[in-house]
This record gives sequence, C-alpha cells and structure tokens, in this order.
Amino acid sequence: MLTNDQLDQWDRENFFHPSTHLAQHARGESPNRIVKTASGVYIEDRDGNKLLDAFAGLYCVNVGYGRTEISEAIAEQAKELAYYHAYVGHGTEASITLAKMVLDRAPKGMSKVYFGLGGSDANETNIKLIWYYNNILGRPQKKKIISRWRGYHGSGLMTGSMTGLATFHNKFDLPLSQVIHTEAPYYYRRPRRNMSEAEFVLHCTAELEALIAREGADTIAAFIGEPILGTGGIVPPPAGYWEAIQQVLEKHDILLIADEVVTGFGRLGTMMGSDHYGMRPDLITIAKGLTSAYAPLSGSIVGDKMWKVLMDGTDENGPIGHGWTYSAHPIGAAAGIANLNLIDKLGLVDNAGKTGAYLNAQMSAALGEHANVGEVRGEGMLCAVELVKDRDTATFFDASEKVAPRVVGEMAKLGVIARAMPQGDIIGFAPPLCLSETEADIVVEKTAAAVKSVLG
Ligand SMILES: Cc1ncc(COP(=O)(O)O)c(C=O)c1O
Repeated sequence: MLTNDQLDQWDRENFFHPSTHLAQHARGESPNRIVKTASGVYIEDRDGNKLLDAFAGLYCVNVGYGRTEISEAIAEQAKELAYYHAYVGHGTEASITLAKMVLDRAPKGMSKVYFGLGGSDANETNIKLIWYYNNILGRPQKKKIISRWRGYHGSGLMTGSMTGLATFHNKFDLPLSQVIHTEAPYYYRRPRRNMSEAEFVLHCTAELEALIAREGADTIAAFIGEPILGTGGIVPPPAGYWEAIQQVLEKHDILLIADEVVTGFGRLGTMMGSDHYGMRPDLITIAKGLTSAYAPLSGSIVGDKMWKVLMDGTDENGPIGHGWTYSAHPIGAAAGIANLNLIDKLGLVDNAGKTGAYLNAQMSAALGEHANVGEVRGEGMLCAVELVKDRDTATFFDASEKVAPRVVGEMAKLGVIARAMPQGDIIGFAPPLCLSETEADIVVEKTAAAVKSVLG
C-alpha cells in the first residue's frame, strides 16, 4: 500500500484539482485531504480522521455513504452489461426503467427525460434544446438566457456564463453575450434595510421587467433559476417570489428552467423543489440526488410544450444532433434505480423536511443572537449561517479576512465538514438526507464552537 507521504507527493505533482488554488496546492502550502472510506454521514481520511460530512460531498450523497444496495446494483449491472449507448433508439432495462421512475416523481406536465452525466452538461443540453425549439418555431432571434446573480448552473461555457458568481467568470472571458443576469432573490442583501419582503419581491420583478424591456422580449428565450439559491449562499427566496417571477415570464413567452441539481429528489422535504415553491417549469435539470453520486448521471426533464415542438423538429430536420457517448450509461442508471428505491424505502424525503427543520431551528437557537451572525437561514436539509462584521448595519467582513474559511477550518479540526460558500462569509450545510437529530446536534455544537473560537 502507498504511504500517505507518497500519495501527497503524487497528488501535488500530478493532479489538477477543480476549484483549487493551483499554485498553493502544487507548492504544498494548502492542506489536502485524501479520503479513504465513508459510512452513513461520516467520511474517514487516510490519516485516520473521522469527520461528519455536513455537506454530503458537494450536496450530492443524499442517501449517505456506504449503501450496499447501490454498490451491489452497480456491480450487478457492470457484470451483466457495463455499457451500451442510447443513440438511435437504443436502451437498456436500467435506463428505460429509470426514465419511468424519474417521470413518476416529476411535477405534472413533464414529458420525457434525457440523461447526461453531470449538472453542467444537463444545463448545456437544456440551452441547446431551447435554441432548437425557438428555431423550429421560426423565432431565431429569441435566444438569450436570463439567469440570476449568485445563481449556480455549472462551469461549462454557457453554464459558467449562467452562473452568477465572479470566480467562475474571471479570466475565462465569461459570461458569453447570450447570457444576461438579473437581481438575486437575496432578501438579506436587499438594497434598503427598511424594505419589506413583499417590497423586495416587487423590486425583483421590476428589475426583471426592466431587463426584458431593455433587451426586447423577442430576444429572450428562457429564465433559469434554482428553486433556492445554492452555491450563491443557500438563500431561500422571499415569499411569493416564484409566483411573481412566473407571471412576468408567462406574459413575455419566456421559458422557465428549474435547475433542481441540488433540490431534486428530496432535499427540501418534497420530491422536487418545484413542488415546494409552486414552480411550473418547462425544463428541469437533475443530477446529484438522482444517484446520490454513487455514479455520475444527470438529466434534463422536458415538459409537454417543448417536447411536442422537438418532435415536430425532427419530422422537419431528421434526428436530433445531440448526444454524449455516455448518455444514459447503464451503470449510472442502475445506481439511480437503487438510489430512488432507497429514498422511498427509508422515507428520506420526509426526514429531510423534519430533521432539516430541526437542524435549522437548533442552528438559529445556538447562533441566531451572536454579534457576528447576520442571518441563519435554510429550507429542508439546507442551512446557512451568514457572518457579518456588524449585524445591526449588515456590514460585511473584508474578503481578505477569510472569516468563513477560517471557521470551516476550525470545524474540520472539531470533526465536522461544512462549506465556506464561494462569495461572502457564509457557512453552508447540506448534510445527507438521512441525518439524525443526534447528528444534527453535533453539527450545531461544533459550528457554535468554531464561530466562538474565530470570532469570540
Ligand atoms: C444548481 C446546480 N446546477 C448545476 C450544477 C453543476 O453540476 P456539475 O458540477 O455536476 O456539473 C451544480 C453543482 O453544484 C448545481 O449546484
């Protein structure tokens, strides 16, 4: 077996890590963590440290680690048929079964599911389908996509553009010109402290209307949004936001993509986030929770209205020129089936609602009054603690102070993994949906201790 030192050296010499300070990593100035095994909500690294993973990897290991039901389904599938493609009408029992299971769990009005590999490629598929759709309808100029500042939709060319976070644009020549951004539904960072939630919703819709008027509704194809902002800071929308936004979109014939990569399959305590907020999407993006990350698989769920036009399109133009070699990979599909069955069997959607509410309530009780906590917020099994310099004026810390990364570093020393969200001093929590109340108590206790040790 390789020694830890050897692995550390090879890691720094050979491995190009995503979202990492490359120079510090290569020079050995930043810590790395080499993960060895995991079970339930705990991961274990090569140094023998056991950590409660309160971010479920990258909010994806929804059923928790070490589920043999899924690993055995993967092994069985690999033995029987490790691969066959899905082009020109080919399929496997696993991919066909999973498509039915996904549609059974989708909101009303959804027609078909296209399978990809990750959230980014599924959103790239969505944009291509929307452009195709408008070309078939004879409106070639209706192509721009509206996204929100602080939205996260992946890090490809269009998806990185739709992502509304500076770090995913800087020095990459993004965003591309087809993507335009509008106000984030982030009430805590509202333009005026004395604005009510209802006034803030009006402000968001007015900003959207103004953007549409400036660009021309006939140039705008779609609006993409996560039901609840995730990587942008775990921010539930203000009450009434989605209904108000949808009225604007419907008025201007603009499609809605619900990016449910984080919220799909239970995280908010409902099967889909669209159900939770009364969204009526034309397309839904799914990934992470579809397989709980036991194998890479994503999907674009296409609504009835678009599906009919896509079909007409192939009657006019021939087969749709879109697909990946690994679309609907049978190993991913087998993982997806076992995962969705496990979510039902263990009642994890319910648990996400109940234990998530407990986690949020306990976090608020422990930290809500702290002088440097601006807000504790969340929904279902998502929670965030926003740290500020002054809670009365909502003055933020200077980014150079790296307050959230320091708190998260302290938490890791105490045995709990949380995520310092990329923009602002926000500690994010997205534990596996199987979290128990006892485990939630540990997360809260260690968070409070780490905040105390960094900020007093
Ligand atoms: C809402 C949302 N959409 C898309 C993505 C991109 O998914 P992936 O990293 O699998 O490409 C993510 C990833 O975190 C996400 O949170």
